Amino acid sequence: MNLSVHIGKMRMQNPVTVASGTFGYGEEYSRLIDLNQLGAVTIKGIRLNPIRGNPTPRTAEVASGMLNAIGLQGPGVDGFIKKYWPFLKSLKVPTIINIWGTTVEEYAEVARRFDALGGVGALELNVSCPNIKEGGAQFGTDLKLLAQVVAACRKATTLPLITKMSPNVVNIAPFAKAAEDAGSDALAVTNSYPAMAIDIETRKPKLANVTGGLTGPCIKPIAIKLVWDAARAVKIPIIGMGGIQNAADAIEFLMAGASAVAVGTANFYEPQTALQVIAGIREFMQRKKISDVRDLKGTVNAANDSC
Ligand SMILES: Cc1cc2nc3c(=O)[nH]c(=O)nc-3n(C[C@H](O)[C@H](O)[C@H](O)COP(=O)(O)O)c2cc1C
Repeated sequence: MNLSVHIGKMRMQNPVTVASGTFGYGEEYSRLIDLNQLGAVTIKGIRLNPIRGNPTPRTAEVASGMLNAIGLQGPGVDGFIKKYWPFLKSLKVPTIINIWGTTVEEYAEVARRFDALGGVGALELNVSCPNIKEGGAQFGTDLKLLAQVVAACRKATTLPLITKMSPNVVNIAPFAKAAEDAGSDALAVTNSYPAMAIDIETRKPKLANVTGGLTGPCIKPIAIKLVWDAARAVKIPIIGMGGIQNAADAIEFLMAGASAVAVGTANFYEPQTALQVIAGIREFMQRKKISDVRDLKGTVNAANDSC
């Protein structure tokens, strides 16, 4: 049975990774889950310099999901390389480094630095964070800027580039195509949805940042639709994510057109979720007599998709 997939030139032994920002820098989870069983480890977003992130509270639970406004807290490229890279480098599975910047040049510089590091599996361009004032979503919701960021990073590195798409667009297809045309090797669909919750006793927003990003099971059907729409617009592989809690959820993403999936919010309440998803995909393939996981991709029977 083949579970392996390729994202550009990066080989994943199975199609399951973890979503950026929900798994720290990998090491934090290493006592809770065998990281070497994953398809890849994806780490929290890194920019050039350290950043403190937003004031607290930064997370809030909502029905079937959560809000967060971490503000991309992180140690910067040098801090990351010093503190976290030695551990990640020692793993048998590739690391996907999620990167961002406040300018096109900063994205490219971060890409260049990680290219020079050696041993990185792939770079995921976060052009879709809703929780910072500069950078993030502004790049992912402007076709021209998106193409510029991807093209600049493409020039800066030969590492596989995964563009993490914003859900906050009317139609994802032209954005997916723009990323592909600018040289992206893959897409990650999707980031969190801009959202807000209010404590009615205090009349205060539940997040200090007022608004945040909505994730978890409540976004899954909208994320599936985005993957379906993106998959019909591009030829490059898609890593699907949004509310995956089990293998059935993951298989839905594959059938919608994803080549691989990422487990996000579920890591917070069940750190073994990604491994359970891998085991469940294998069991499903055995039951359905499917010998290659790639044969699940885009197999939804949706000949009549009008309504
Ligand atoms: C607390 C938290 C932090 C996140 N940080 C990042 C980040 O640094 N970069 C990024 O591209 N996405 C980030 N995300 C988005 C996730 O990677 C993922 O796209 C999203 O959570 C949808 O998947 P899920 O519903 O399974 O959580 C974050 C999500 C959460 C909940």
